[in-house]
Amino acid sequence: MCSIIGYSGKEMAAPIIVKGLKRMEYRGYDSVGVATESDNQIELKKGIGKVNEVNLKIQLDTLPGKVGIGHTRWATHGKVTDVNAHPHSSNSGKIAIVHNGIIENFEELKKQLENEGYSFKSETDSEIIANLLQKNYELTKNVRETIMKTVSEIKGHYAFVAMFENGQLAAARFHEPLIIGVGQDNIFLSSDVLGFVEYTDNAIYMKSRNFIILDKWKFQILDFEGKDVKYEITKISKEFGDAYKGDYAHFTLKEIYEQPDTILRAGEKTVDAITKTADYIKHAKNIYITGSGTSYNSALIAKQILSKYAKIKVETIISSELQFSPDIIEENSILIAISQSGESADVLDAVRIAKKVNCKIISIVNLLTSSLVRKSDVVIGMNCGPEIGVAATKSFTSQLVVLYKIVQKLSNNNITINFENFAKSILKILENPTKIQQIAKELKDISDIYILGRGINYPVAMEAALKLKELTYIHAEGIPGGELKHGPLALMDSNVFVIIINPNDSTYSDTLTSAREIKVRGAKIIGISDIESDVYDYWIEIPKLDEILYPISEIIPIQLLSYYAALEKNTDPDYPRNLAKSVTVK
Ligand code: AGP
Ligand code: GLU
Repeated sequence: MCSIIGYSGKEMAAPIIVKGLKRMEYRGYDSVGVATESDNQIELKKGIGKVNEVNLKIQLDTLPGKVGIGHTRWATHGKVTDVNAHPHSSNSGKIAIVHNGIIENFEELKKQLENEGYSFKSETDSEIIANLLQKNYELTKNVRETIMKTVSEIKGHYAFVAMFENGQLAAARFHEPLIIGVGQDNIFLSSDVLGFVEYTDNAIYMKSRNFIILDKWKFQILDFEGKDVKYEITKISKEFGDAYKGDYAHFTLKEIYEQPDTILRAGEKTVDAITKTADYIKHAKNIYITGSGTSYNSALIAKQILSKYAKIKVETIISSELQFSPDIIEENSILIAISQSGESADVLDAVRIAKKVNCKIISIVNLLTSSLVRKSDVVIGMNCGPEIGVAATKSFTSQLVVLYKIVQKLSNNNITINFENFAKSILKILENPTKIQQIAKELKDISDIYILGRGINYPVAMEAALKLKELTYIHAEGIPGGELKHGPLALMDSNVFVIIINPNDSTYSDTLTSAREIKVRGAKIIGISDIESDVYDYWIEIPKLDEILYPISEIIPIQLLSYYAALEKNTDPDYPRNLAKSVTVK
């Protein structure tokens, strides 16, 4: 997973490419590079670090020329080094490429090319594309034939952009995203519309197994068999313009603060799909819900609320696990796939397995242009706008609201939720973060945090642990309250902090007892509750709510706590180390 970009137009390419890469950095950010063409010569600069850091050091944006390519990497093959960073050039230096994805047969191809006299500088799988293109171009002297031959030889999942020394660009897509931005005087080839949103709102979503050849701003789109492909230019939604931090220090903070608004918008544009989903669920033989990471935590909450409020039984499946027990899925059932990006390879794989046995696919997804949408029978949009921070925040609460709306429909609207009032109460939590900021200071030197919750609050504890891990790199673990005595109690001493998720619901008194058991072992207790108690060393007050709504009001202060603790620890909350926003490789 990474971002790739290509530009050909009337303006200098490098500064535009650097800006686009900065916007797409959420996709991968261990290294960055740019190559441009001018006077039939390719120049290239690259290095490890974030876009701004590297640009400051080696001025990527001063490369000459009006055609160029760029890349931010999330290493899969080969360490994070300057040499392994993209672009990679072919041995002749006449072709340079940027690649997103994995070339599965790269070792075999590398050996073949080495036997033919080619040499390799990097440890990446990607570099073989550059040399294979060179070999095929020398053979065919034709860009179209070169791309067709190259894609027939490589296996894996990829999108790549190649730049030839005469300034021609070509890009191919196989299961990794590639979008063409069509401007007045310029054309973009990009992993995400964010790569070009400032310059044009005309986009062509390229299909898998298609490639494009681009000469200045004339282009042709073909399929891998070389046939011309019909394409449609669509207008990208204005909401992508929101992908700015505004006055906020980080995207993550901005996205946390957007929640009173995004909660109100969740599922709004796809109301019919919610009705349809309820209908599918009512008549389904079996119902499965799948997702990864945060989206899986939503699935765990969905299981509990569907059973409690609508008397509907569902089975939750971690997307990446389904491949090891595909028989869990019975024929003609339904699979609900939850995914912010709609591009997580594990989720798409779970969908593929379910489709094989004729399951209907319902997706709850934020990016409506994603692969998951195209594979679904019913699509509900989270509608929370672009989420750039790698740690999921507003998408989680939007997923929950969509699930609440489905449950409402299934219970014949017996559950009344006043979302307007709810949003106001969330605003209150966000209005005064001073106490949370103080607690964050206490977490600075802590190495372990445990989070306890029962019932519906247990998946919230799991999500809280995920947020703390991602943002602060502190070891964090969600524990079902009742399991404490079955093992985890052994870990409690004065070195640990424990967050007790303890709303005034049916779990309240049992969880308070657990808090006391922990307290006597010396651990520091942070209580998230609408009721104050002497057992808490620190109390984070949440509003009194209907039981079903507590998960949202509990996670928001923990998102904030994780964010402020990240600042205390000097980690980058938007781009946690080793992670990427959407994991498009398995
Ligand atoms: C959440 O904070 C994580 N960054 C991650 O677990 C994420 O939720 C997971 O990769 C699933 O992504 P998706 O919702 O885009 O499919
Ligand atoms: N497999 C390539 C590499 O490791 C590309 C990874 C990516 O998508 O960033 O360099």
